[in-house]
Amino acid sequence: MFYNEDCISGAKSYLTDNSIDLIICDPPYGIEGDKLDKHYNRDASNVINGYVEVPESKYSDFSKKWINEAARVLRPSGSFYIVSGYSNLRHILNALAESDLQEKNHIIWKYNFGVYTSKKYISSHYHILYYVKPPCNQATFNTNAFFADSEKSENGGSLNYLDREDVWIINREYKPGQVKNKNELPKSLLTKMILYSSNPNDLVCDFFLGGFSTAKVAVGLGRQACGFEINKNAFDYQISEMEKIKTGEYMADLREVPVNKLINKGKPLLNSEISQIKGDFILLTKKGVTKKSALDRLSSKYGRGYWSLLKIVDNNVIAK
Ligand SMILES: C[S@@+](CC[C@H](N)C(=O)[O-])C[C@H]1O[C@@H](n2cnc3c(N)ncnc32)[C@H](O)[C@@H]1O
Repeated sequence: MFYNEDCISGAKSYLTDNSIDLIICDPPYGIEGDKLDKHYNRDASNVINGYVEVPESKYSDFSKKWINEAARVLRPSGSFYIVSGYSNLRHILNALAESDLQEKNHIIWKYNFGVYTSKKYISSHYHILYYVKPPCNQATFNTNAFFADSEKSENGGSLNYLDREDVWIINREYKPGQVKNKNELPKSLLTKMILYSSNPNDLVCDFFLGGFSTAKVAVGLGRQACGFEINKNAFDYQISEMEKIKTGEYMADLREVPVNKLINKGKPLLNSEISQIKGDFILLTKKGVTKKSALDRLSSKYGRGYWSLLKIVDNNVIAK
């Protein structure tokens, strides 16, 4: 299901309407006189030749065409991530606004070793646009893919909350001495999108396979993959690399998420439970337990989240 073709005509030929569960695309950035190799300060002899750029003058039309195809093949409630630099971001945002896809998040990916510049700020981020095809409320979003609600960082913050913030700090991979595409996405970035927004056996599509990173991580995580790459050199090299990935082999590297202790999270609150929570909170604070520590204890006892308990005590206890 991988095609050495232009993604726009290829999608029209091979992909049926509403057939893909998750699309992750990292299109060429339309940067004239592409200096990506210089940016990464690396030995260009390991970089596969033939990377296809899109001229800036055609970027708007190109973006509309491929995003239109992606929107057609994405299933209802399917998720769509686009990675983009800032130079031509506006064309991608315009194309998305003209589609029936709906924005969920505009994520900033902060990476390491940005291009050094002395007379302006150093660029060290990409944009990741996360959209869903309506109906949006049924989209796959595995809230506890990485952390249970009750897991805390060393300074007491919720790890689940931190992991779901919309600024992602993820390093690029160096891969010294290895053959690579000009511009490859790191495995941990792809793992994040795939685990939050798909389930095992779902079909993940990448219109711009490049180093086949999306496809490799998807298959390694037990999903199916398909996509397009127009550069024959990259396609021929990576298709044989792809064959080395065993379905599900990356699952063993994943951290085991503890059972979510907040078993009552989201369930309606009964008046009797509210009174008990209020009573327990008053007793604990009278004993000198701090508000935060009391709420943590009540969270374990009642299987409810910290914030919903805070709401109860703030509205119903302290306010009185
Ligand atoms: C930014 S790279 C993708 C990198 C990829 N995400 C990875 O991690 O290796 C964009 C890729 O799109 C390819 N490309 C450019 N125009 C294309 C088109 N019309 N159809 C399919 N692939 C295209 C380029 O050759 C390049 O390999």
